Amino acid sequence: MYKTADETLFMGKNIVFVPECPSTNDLAMKLLQQSSAIEGTVVITDCQTAGKGQRGNTWESEPSQNLTFSVLLKPTFLAIKDQFMLSIATCLAVHDYLIKHSEAAIQVKWPNDVLANGKKIGGILIENQIQGNTLSSSVIGIGLNIGQLHFSMATATSLALVTGRSYELVNELPTLLATLEARYMQLRQGSHSNLLTDYLDALYLLGERHQFKTKDELFEGIILGIDATGKLMVKTAQGVRFFAVKEIAYG
Ligand code: BTN
Repeated sequence: MYKTADETLFMGKNIVFVPECPSTNDLAMKLLQQSSAIEGTVVITDCQTAGKGQRGNTWESEPSQNLTFSVLLKPTFLAIKDQFMLSIATCLAVHDYLIKHSEAAIQVKWPNDVLANGKKIGGILIENQIQGNTLSSSVIGIGLNIGQLHFSMATATSLALVTGRSYELVNELPTLLATLEARYMQLRQGSHSNLLTDYLDALYLLGERHQFKTKDELFEGIILGIDATGKLMVKTAQGVRFFAVKEIAYG
């Protein structure tokens, strides 16, 4: 089964494996309430029965085929206004892992998706706890499709589908935790501008014309980047507009 990571300093040194649970994020959150929770603890399962996605969606994953886990972090160095940097660091960690393991075109789709050859291969759900002006702790939930070969959505894919190889989840977890630790250290050192540059380099549709929708309009625009708070910056016929996560969707 899953072994504590050798390649890292603190990420994955404590692994809590449960064969089945509703959501590893919820389980990690419960651990956080126990003061003994160590930073870098990984909560992982073979089967999530109520996996949570972004925007209140569910996260579906075939049992024992993919990585579904959550990491406990204590980013007390991060101001609330910079909390999107944690999403950036996590997206880039998944991106770095996938670049190392495949020839596929790996991109990040704002805010928190990871794509391989234009299809969704991974999703991230971050739940922060706040104290004063900084984050006191975060649960970083990662769903990464590794071995699943069939999806109900044509827009989803897995590492096995893009490479044609097969994988042991127990071997993939430590490699992913190593890239996560490296990006988290970069964040801890305050290298926000380097992280932002790498995120924009990997950003899906950057500089391309595309359709977007808000709750009451459908429009064309070009993604120019993101602002300091993580809002999407889109050039539209009405000028440059900024959108928070819940305010815009890809059309
Ligand atoms: C998304 O793209 O909608 C985010 C998906 C996040 C899924 C992961 S799987 C592990 C962790 N536990 C959850 O309940 N969700 C996250």
